[in-house]
Amino acid sequence: MPSILMDVDTGIDDALALVYLLSRPEVRVEAITCTAGNVGARQVALNNLALLELCGRAGIEVAVGAEVPLEIPLVTTEETHGPQGIGYAELPLPKQEISSRHAVEVWVDAARSHPGEITGLITGPLTNFALALRAEPDLPKLLKGLVIMGGCFNYQGNTTPTAEWNVSVDPHAAAEVFAAYSGLPEENLPVVCALETTERIELRPEHLQRLAEAAGAEPELVLPEQPEGQRSRSGNPLVACLSDAIRFYMEFHRLYDQGFIAHMHDAFAAAAAIERTPYGTRPATVHVETAAPRLVGTTVADFRGIWKEPSNARIVTSNDPAKCFDELISSVGALAAA
Ligand code: BDR
Ligand code: CA
Repeated sequence: MPSILMDVDTGIDDALALVYLLSRPEVRVEAITCTAGNVGARQVALNNLALLELCGRAGIEVAVGAEVPLEIPLVTTEETHGPQGIGYAELPLPKQEISSRHAVEVWVDAARSHPGEITGLITGPLTNFALALRAEPDLPKLLKGLVIMGGCFNYQGNTTPTAEWNVSVDPHAAAEVFAAYSGLPEENLPVVCALETTERIELRPEHLQRLAEAAGAEPELVLPEQPEGQRSRSGNPLVACLSDAIRFYMEFHRLYDQGFIAHMHDAFAAAAAIERTPYGTRPATVHVETAAPRLVGTTVADFRGIWKEPSNARIVTSNDPAKCFDELISSVGALAAA
């Protein structure tokens, strides 16, 4: 049974990643830790708790970690993910409380108590994980594996001209994490899902239609000509929540001339973490720029050993969007139908 420990900044695509993992009967979600990113860390925690309750999975520990990046001020992005981080979806305040433990404690305890069993999945800035590595430098060996959504190696950034959001929010944390993995055996290196592959996971209105069908719900009307902000009409609460969340994300992408689509970065990383979607990787040495003006947060990958430094990551270089959507839609649809 795959055991996943998540660190997230929920976040519309983080929300789909979480719901997807909850929908897989063979997956155990060990705990969810929250970092500041798309929205503040406490709001991230409330979003995760509300989503757990919506999916009938209250009881999974949700802990808050770093509320600010390691060295620079926090920037959040409500314009991308909505005022609360899940677009137009409005979820009730959760009944379950935020854990009293810090995210770092959750990661270190889980990895020490189940050595070699837990796969880490990070879909937000790397602040919590960098702090956890300071507390337990053996984390890379204690974890079964690590999958990170972050970075971009084609220099078509989504936050600066060359940098991706999760790395941009806390570049110092990302740099610490890659440094910690330098020289480890290839099978221990983090699998990095960067923009050039996650942006291929382009969710379109027809995918939401298919999700509603898979859930046995009323066909979902999410169309470009719909008035901005109009709520989903689906009677299925999970389909309605995801449609309301994703519609906001589509409007955001349209604003930036990317079409009426939404990139499901984090959901791809989740499916990759449990090996339910095909992908290929190449080892590389990743450098995160933390100093050069205009380039802070830029990730550079040396695939050819030019720097003569050991690899510190396995970068995803190929994926299959159609198969990824088949997997997401059938699994989440089945959960929504249950
Ligand atoms: C990443 O940034 C966030 O806004 C998304 O949730 C995703 O994790 C993509 O750059
Ligand atoms: Ca995210």
